[in-house]
Amino acid sequence: MYSRIAGTGSYLPEKVLTNFDLEKMVDTSDEWIRTRTGIERRHIAAEHETTSDLAYRAAVAAMDSAGVDGSDIDLVLVGTTTPDLVFPNVGCLLQERLGIRNGPAFSLEAACSGFIYGLTVADAMLKSGQARRALVVGAETMSRIVDWTERETCVLFGDGAGAVVLEASDEPGIVYAKLGADGRYRDLLYASSGVSKPKEEGESGLLRMKGNEVFKVAVKTLETMVDEVLESNRLDKGEIDWLIPHQANIRIIQATAKRLQMPMERVVLTVAEHGNTSAASVPLALDVAVRDGRVKRGDLLLLEAFGGGFTWGAVLVRY
Ligand code: UT7
Repeated sequence: MYSRIAGTGSYLPEKVLTNFDLEKMVDTSDEWIRTRTGIERRHIAAEHETTSDLAYRAAVAAMDSAGVDGSDIDLVLVGTTTPDLVFPNVGCLLQERLGIRNGPAFSLEAACSGFIYGLTVADAMLKSGQARRALVVGAETMSRIVDWTERETCVLFGDGAGAVVLEASDEPGIVYAKLGADGRYRDLLYASSGVSKPKEEGESGLLRMKGNEVFKVAVKTLETMVDEVLESNRLDKGEIDWLIPHQANIRIIQATAKRLQMPMERVVLTVAEHGNTSAASVPLALDVAVRDGRVKRGDLLLLEAFGGGFTWGAVLVRY
């Protein structure tokens, strides 16, 4: 028994914030942002738009492309660090709006790795017969936790959502999934606003990152992870058709591609247009490449992510 991706969808809020717009807000330049990160613009949710609104639009598109409706779905899983509410979770909010009446719905907090974590959990639940067809979403409104006065971080993030319909199948499918985490790095990337922890003096609760240190661990961890993916699946470098990475920084993506000996033409890049949309970035990139015809049925895809926690993960998919 396998699980396979039956459809993909994504949604980006209408408002676009360019590097030139950011030049007017903080002491930065288009040149710095482009050369250090590869980002040119990002989308920002409207004031009334919440994470579940973005997730809903992406989910509808994914369900349309899979040719299913709410009655066909029996598991909803949403990767997000920016939920609408403490509870009900975004999965339940989606369930209600999409007319899904069967099975569990939950969200999963793993920062930028949220979608990869969600996909892995859904795959395991489908394989074990606990569900037949899952809606797996990555959705974020990072703009709500970014400090818009801090140039080190505010230039990096964007809002958006991506989704897939994953269904039980006799054919592959997801052929491999591996997750990891290391909580010792908690202080390198975090947002301290929470529910049960009292706020400390001078704490903003907004996203904080020691970018340079995160960068080094991200590159090293992703390199080790892709080596493991190749070894565990007895794959030679060059056998993967498309790398669909988390879109945090073009330089991190280039390092991973180099490790896999993959030319950049076989890497799906959305970082210039979307920035870092955290848990939404991988399903957004996947949907872009499916819809523009680059990713075709039968292609072997490597999806990977790294983020706050630290958390990381990779999923190998025969699309
Ligand atoms: O998605 C979750 C995981 N997150 C990531 O993977 C992000 C990982 N980190 C990164 O992508 C990069 O470290 C950044 C893009 C965040 C920063 O790039 P960097 O090449 O590591 O720059 P840096 O932090 O070492 O800063 C270099 C210089 C500093 O100035 P000095 O000290 O050399 O004078 C910064 O103050 O660039 C300065 N700087 C800026 N200058 C203009 C930092 N941010 C900006 C800015 N505009 N926005």
